Amino acid sequence: MTNAESTTAGRIEQLRQRNEETIVAKERAARERQHSKGKQSARERIETFVDPGTFVEFDAYVRHRTTAFGMDEKRPYGDAVVTGIATVHGRRIAVYSQDFTTFGGSLGEVAGEKIVKIMDYATRVGVPIVGMLDSGGARIQEGVVALGKYGEIFKRTTAASGVIPQISIVMGPAAGGAVYGPALTDFVVMVDKTSHMFVTGPDVIKTVTGEEVGFEELGGGLTHNSISGVSHYLAADEADALDYVRALLAFLPDNNQSEVPAYDHQAHRVVNDLDQTLNRVIPDSPNQPYDVLDIIEVLVDDREFLEVQPLYAPNIVIGFGRLEGRTIGIIANQPKQMAGTLNIEAGEKAARFVRFCDSFSIPILTLVDVPGYLPGTDQEWTGVIRRGAKLIYAYAEATVPMVTVITRKAYGGAYIVMGSKQLGADINIAWPTAEIAVMGGQGAVNILYRSEIKQAEEEGRDVAAVRQQLANDYTYNVTSPFLAAERGEIDGIIEPAETRVAITKAFRALRTKKVARPERKHGNIPL
Ligand code: HXC
Repeated sequence: MTNAESTTAGRIEQLRQRNEETIVAKERAARERQHSKGKQSARERIETFVDPGTFVEFDAYVRHRTTAFGMDEKRPYGDAVVTGIATVHGRRIAVYSQDFTTFGGSLGEVAGEKIVKIMDYATRVGVPIVGMLDSGGARIQEGVVALGKYGEIFKRTTAASGVIPQISIVMGPAAGGAVYGPALTDFVVMVDKTSHMFVTGPDVIKTVTGEEVGFEELGGGLTHNSISGVSHYLAADEADALDYVRALLAFLPDNNQSEVPAYDHQAHRVVNDLDQTLNRVIPDSPNQPYDVLDIIEVLVDDREFLEVQPLYAPNIVIGFGRLEGRTIGIIANQPKQMAGTLNIEAGEKAARFVRFCDSFSIPILTLVDVPGYLPGTDQEWTGVIRRGAKLIYAYAEATVPMVTVITRKAYGGAYIVMGSKQLGADINIAWPTAEIAVMGGQGAVNILYRSEIKQAEEEGRDVAAVRQQLANDYTYNVTSPFLAAERGEIDGIIEPAETRVAITKAFRALRTKKVARPERKHGNIPL
């Protein structure tokens, strides 16, 4: 020890020097390497993401202990991940960001320990955790120890599921079993062109099956947002990904014990001009589509709707908005896509969203315009029965306030699935344009009026006109929302323009809803 090191000033100077030589110098080099690839460094990503000056780093001095493969010659401080706490919109979060410039962001023993520590912190304190992934996966030099750390992360992610919001932003590779880290979290955001996720890469696929496929097609952002449904948002670039997650966090509570964030917003008590547009949304022809986003945007505060998974199963829309400044989750059939039919993908997308909202006490608004399930062998053979059951299960077990508005079609099983009263919705409202029945007019006429149609044929009458008249009569007499209202299936029929005022009152009235459930370990959702 030199004299300088034995004094307080000397020791402080020593700390500064160490920070300069290790953290600052390492960061400088990391930026250079990442910028040349059009990417930010791990620390830069955190700094861009959080409120300025709020990041407090954990474990900046951690170093790996591996000696194999000459690893003891390179022991960078902080290893391959930056972890810490900060605020976003003034609210606390925990964050980790993998550093691709250190051993390819790979996860060995100490990088794993750092992530585990910050996850434990987030769960203990009850704050959302955001992971930024950019990694070659398990550190090859560390073998089974690295694999074990993934196991620990998976176990903790599962334990924290439904306790704190968990969000993953994939900003580079995520390969092999490592993909299950993000897959277990609530939301996965991917950056277009620069992020890739796959369990087995193009080389392995070619060797084993002979199939030739590139990184992008196999596991790029577009693939996972539009085909597989692994990802919930396709960001144009890193800044867009971070913006989206900041916006998302603003809708979410800190944990499952805290209430949804409430922003100051004037209560909406009278129907205004914007509301009046809803009276003109539903086309006169029942087969003409409309965009359900036009309805959603009128209903939520400041027309601000954050859609989740917009590119996947677009026949159902899910996302967050606010009423009176408080978050609600919205699930809506989209008549503009596949006539708003339900299929496997739509069912799974909506089911997971319902379960997320329910876990975190986010009230659910369901907008129904569904002609039924998408028919076909493809759907039946890929499990529309088993996989479609998830949405029923999700609604039926949800205990948050639920309000359902039937705007137009609500046919068959799909009527029951989409937030019906029997599955647990608290307040069900219909527009006068609602059609609620076992099936649509044309289908019903084929079954109920077979002999009348045959007779019309024999008498040489205009069969199409007869059929249409019968279908119109059926639609008018059987599918009328007044019939459902008569039976108490729906609680009221309102003018579309009154919807925002009605749902605002409904959710306000439901704020104290509590449902006691019998004790059980957990249910057995069809998977
Ligand atoms: C140690 C790794 C590494 C890894 C990359 N590197 N992956 N080091 N363990 N898993 C290092 C490289 O040696 C290199 O070091 C640096 O990171 C950058 O890697 P490059 O290959 O030069 O980068 P790039 O061309 O961009 O390719 C990135 C890549 C590729 C596609 C991720 O590196 C790759 O295929 N890596 C292996 C991926 C993989 O199979 N991982 C195991 C998955 S299984 P230098 O010193 O040259 O800069 C898994 C199991 C999880 O993760 C268990 C869950 C149960």
